[in-house]
Amino acid sequence: MARYKIAWLPGDGIGIDVMDAARIVLDRLKLDAEYIPGDIGWEFWITEANALPDRTIELLKNVDCALFGAITSKPKEEAERELVPELRGKGHIYTSPIVRLRQEFNLRTNLRPCKAYPGNPLNYRDDIDLIVFRENTEDLYAGIEFHPLPDEVREVIKKHNKKMGRFDHHPGNEIAVSLRINTKTGCRNIIVDAFELAKKTGRKSVTVVEKPNVLRETSGLMVRTAREVAKKYPGVELWEANIDAMCMWLIKNPTDYSVLVTSNMFGDIISDLCAQLVGGLGFASSGNIGDKLAVFEPTHGSAPKYAGLYKVNPMAMLLSVKLMLDWLGEAEMGDRLEKGIARVVKEGKVRTYDMGGSNTTLEVAKAVAACL
Ligand code: NAI
Ligand code: MG
Repeated sequence: MARYKIAWLPGDGIGIDVMDAARIVLDRLKLDAEYIPGDIGWEFWITEANALPDRTIELLKNVDCALFGAITSKPKEEAERELVPELRGKGHIYTSPIVRLRQEFNLRTNLRPCKAYPGNPLNYRDDIDLIVFRENTEDLYAGIEFHPLPDEVREVIKKHNKKMGRFDHHPGNEIAVSLRINTKTGCRNIIVDAFELAKKTGRKSVTVVEKPNVLRETSGLMVRTAREVAKKYPGVELWEANIDAMCMWLIKNPTDYSVLVTSNMFGDIISDLCAQLVGGLGFASSGNIGDKLAVFEPTHGSAPKYAGLYKVNPMAMLLSVKLMLDWLGEAEMGDRLEKGIARVVKEGKVRTYDMGGSNTTLEVAKAVAACL
């Protein structure tokens, strides 16, 4: 029996291209793993009205971790139109399978390293090394939304907060509400993860990125919790920054920062900004980590216009494989893989289009594999 059971979830679009690249590298590393394919993605929405079928959920209950490519998501009306005729008009509502995975398996930590590999022509600067910790299951992405706003909900809110009266003259069907829900446990967990990593890797600061001057309760809870947690880590400084200012500071002085920790939506936004500092979506890796399961994925989407062309950069996927290896406890392999990636970037001989080259996805993967 193989040492590890890994769910293999290519999804759709370029998810399939970059997963083929991952396999080249994993086979070269001879990771002792069984890769079990799982269904996820747009084609399962079209044919089953479920982009994350129950059989995939069952599979994920019986593996060590999962590697995931990308999936296509479309807005509500468009999704409904693409269903096979017999499923249309039955009230099926599209929900993003990756958001569902995060919530169903409580993959509460989203880890997004953004490190510049020297020689990458896409680097904003060659010495950037940031790690974003994004809370992954709560906040504005909890999925608790209303449109139209039911009268009972409006009345309850008004009873507890007079400011709601300001919206009295708008009918319920002209008000949309998305609840920002943050818990003390959620805040504490993500902040502890950030500090633990800083401590373990000798990083000097953790910056909590929120907006407590306006979002007094939700962002306030994050910042207050960060101050509590920070007391237990005397070797790591806690810095506080507002999300808007942080977007500016990261462009101005990106090397001032090390570990960033934030809530779900701010983390979504700031991690794309950080990714662009170090080569863009072709270099942005991530791990969705829970207590029982972890799912590793590049942060890019399915890029439909490149699907199946084997043109896109596999580095984001290969860096996600590195995160997976580290998480499995195969740090030596993870380290070798990262060095291989760094060498191919530095040598600059094999590059996909986004880096100014004309090599294919699989040629880049083979070049990395050849360094291992
Ligand atoms: P996207 O990330 O798929 O692509 C945007 C553009 O970025 C592409 O057209 C391409 O120019 C570039 N790009 C992306 N990955 C690249 C790579 N590996 N190498 C080189 N260039 C790369 O985002 P978009 O176009 O907004 O969304 C397309 C679909 O993907 C949508 O249906 C969206 O909902 C979905 N999506 C899925 C995600 C996931 O599976 N986790 C995340 C983001 C979007
Ligand atoms: Mg995003």
